[in-house]
Amino acid sequence: MLKKNLKNLFDVVIIGGLGHVGLPLGIAFAEKGLKVCLYDINKDKGEIVKKGVMPFIEYGAEEILRKVLQSGNLVVSYDVADVSNSKYVIVTIGTPVDEHLTPRTRDFLGFFENIRENLNQEQTIIIRSTVYPNTCKQLLRLLGNGKQWHIAYCPERITEGYAIKELKELPQIVAGLSNQAIDNAASLFSMISPKIIKTSMGEAELIKLFSNALRYIQFALANQFYMISQKFGADYERVRWAMKEGYDRAANLPTAGFAAGPCLLKDTMQLSAFDSNNFLLGHAAMMINEGLPNFIVEDLKRRHDLADKKIGILGMAFKADVDDIRDSLSYKLGKILRFNGAQVYYSDEFAKDSTFVSKEKLIQSCDIIIVATPHSIYKGLVIPNNIEVIDIWGVVVGGKRELPKGYVSSEYKTIPTFEDAYEENFSPVGIVHHDARVKKANSRKK
Ligand SMILES: NC(=O)c1ccc[n+]([C@@H]2O[C@H](COP(=O)([O-])OP(=O)(O)OC[C@H]3O[C@@H](n4cnc5c(N)ncnc54)[C@H](O)[C@@H]3O)[C@@H](O)[C@H]2O)c1
Repeated sequence: MLKKNLKNLFDVVIIGGLGHVGLPLGIAFAEKGLKVCLYDINKDKGEIVKKGVMPFIEYGAEEILRKVLQSGNLVVSYDVADVSNSKYVIVTIGTPVDEHLTPRTRDFLGFFENIRENLNQEQTIIIRSTVYPNTCKQLLRLLGNGKQWHIAYCPERITEGYAIKELKELPQIVAGLSNQAIDNAASLFSMISPKIIKTSMGEAELIKLFSNALRYIQFALANQFYMISQKFGADYERVRWAMKEGYDRAANLPTAGFAAGPCLLKDTMQLSAFDSNNFLLGHAAMMINEGLPNFIVEDLKRRHDLADKKIGILGMAFKADVDDIRDSLSYKLGKILRFNGAQVYYSDEFAKDSTFVSKEKLIQSCDIIIVATPHSIYKGLVIPNNIEVIDIWGVVVGGKRELPKGYVSSEYKTIPTFEDAYEENFSPVGIVHHDARVKKANSRKK
């Protein structure tokens, strides 16, 4: 159990506590009864959170947020002085790469110089942001001054949108630069994590970067296979399904699709910078994943003069069922299409932007629709066959794209065949949802 320190107002202060990593983590600790302070500089987000509303999609978080605000276990602060009032200081600020795709370690360390007077040696400082290897040792040197500091690294490994669930399920990697830091960090995280895995600092720093690079490369492999299949006139999703069926060695082959967001490419590049740009697989993965929007546009250009076309991009978030547009490849796709003369419209179910149009309007207005994000709500969306659809995931039904019949992967087995879809009357804007069709089909059977 965590020992209470009467000197401290808080058990935990989270710096960057209103971010995608900091906020769910703070909620999880507060739910366990700890006094948590979310320190952040973003007042707009802070005022939303104080009202018990999540500023971004994080499934299962809002209900607990309201409870912990009410109980007084969770507070929001814009005052850096609160950092000194806590036993644990967890750092979750962003760690972006610069224009050369190398880490901005100086910014990260500079941040500690700014708050140094609010830190003390009684505290355990836990770095949770993803860092370039050796950053924690640099931090110790920077704070140093002949004093004993307790610095731990406990990398975050959740997938965005599902932190509340995954924080309770994933083992927590714990490393530290003093025994006290390791023990304290392990005791804190054992309150929410099912398992603590202690490693050396270097191992922990590599574990986080390797984890993201692994996923990025796996997606690149799928995307390369997709492009080869397309050029060969084969449907990658059919190939993938048949490959995996009863063959466990291929079980991890992902679907093709945009691999984007604020972490995977950034962390692959951090790893590459660490290995003096010798991480050739990482660079190859970047070329493939970042090249997918170009591949789609080149393919369209072979069939159309894009200057005559209205093209809709369905899904602007960087991945399914979240509202986060950071580093989303949907925008890169839009930019390339516009450069080639197309009129481009954007639509998303979760991300809000006054320039976006509804999916109904997108279908009404466009000659071509590209499904860029496979939001669940798009599954079974029917698009009339006067529209060409580019749908790498095979989530929507219709358009001029032939969905593989009977071969689609198990995720999409519920999607009806084209014949079923076209039996239905289209709504005024030519769009009918799968659920509505199923209900109608069932009522016909009765
Ligand atoms: N998003 C993810 O799913 C995820 C998963 C694992 C690891 N990570 C890593 O976690 C870190 C944070 O990522 P994120 O997605 O939560 O970023 P984010 O931008 O959502 O959150 C960062 C927060 O820090 C705040 N902030 C910035 N500067 C500050 C300062 N000087 N003082 C106080 N607060 C400040 C921002 O206002 C913001 O609320 C990054 O290193 C990222 O690589 C992210």
